[in-house]
Amino acid sequence: MKKADTRGKWALITGASRGIGRQVSFGLAEYGCNLVLHSRDEAHTTALAGELRAKGIEVRQVSAELSDPAQVESMLDRLVNDGPEIDIVYNNAAIQIGYHEDWLNVPTEEIRVSFEVNCTALIRICHRLIPGMIARGWGRVVNVTSGVKDQPQLIAYAVSKAVVDKFVMDTADHLKDKGILMNLMDPGWLRTDLGGPNAPGAVESVLPGALVPVLIDDGTVGKLYHAQDWAGKELD
Ligand SMILES: NC(=O)c1ccc[n+]([C@@H]2O[C@H](COP(=O)([O-])OP(=O)(O)OC[C@H]3O[C@@H](n4cnc5c(N)ncnc54)[C@H](OP(=O)(O)O)[C@@H]3O)[C@@H](O)[C@H]2O)c1
Repeated sequence: MKKADTRGKWALITGASRGIGRQVSFGLAEYGCNLVLHSRDEAHTTALAGELRAKGIEVRQVSAELSDPAQVESMLDRLVNDGPEIDIVYNNAAIQIGYHEDWLNVPTEEIRVSFEVNCTALIRICHRLIPGMIARGWGRVVNVTSGVKDQPQLIAYAVSKAVVDKFVMDTADHLKDKGILMNLMDPGWLRTDLGGPNAPGAVESVLPGALVPVLIDDGTVGKLYHAQDWAGKELD
């Protein structure tokens, strides 16, 4: 695989504090990216930031509760106005609130909050940060989706991920000739706080596959990358 040179590029990783986002942060650090670590509270990423700085990269921390549009806009205002200029957006943060055996009684509030965090915030982050990528003629956007299907018990989460898929399908082609590659990444079912203890995969198995849609340099857009296709392998 011909890899893009990501050394010194700035990547925003949402939901970097734990689980898959934490793995992606370490993975991108290995490829020389400087990182902006997002979580709901900067205290959640302080120790991680220290570990990553020890690898010789620059690290900043940001916070926003993604169900609160005002916090999302405030975080984005700071990034757009004060920098750093973001070259890579890794939209990883998401919530999966409840498993409803009584699946015809999913609370309206759960659907609303799931869409705010998993869709609205993700779309706003893309819309606010892509113009800078266009101006600089280079960018990577990775939006994390899920293989969840046939589970109406998780319908708020599942449908929110379908929105992410549709967003990428309808947007990616319009960015390709601007040097911006937008794609989807499905990590597989992994043992994290969201995935739960019964998931078959270790969270570490998301690497190196989760890095592929950042490192590609072949013009691919709108593709669903399955991180598990690279589990246990080296990127050639
Ligand atoms: N794990 C799986 O099996 C699996 C399978 C398919 C897809 N995925 C996808 O992979 C991504 C990461 O999942 P994960 O398993 O790593 O999740 P996780 O372990 O639950 O971590 C979630 C991350 O998102 C942040 N976050 C949670 N709620 C937030 C909110 N309301 N506002 C802002 N940030 C919030 C958390 O930050 P705080 O420290 O502030 O809480 C944390 O960093 C998600 O998009 C998920 O849908 C996971």
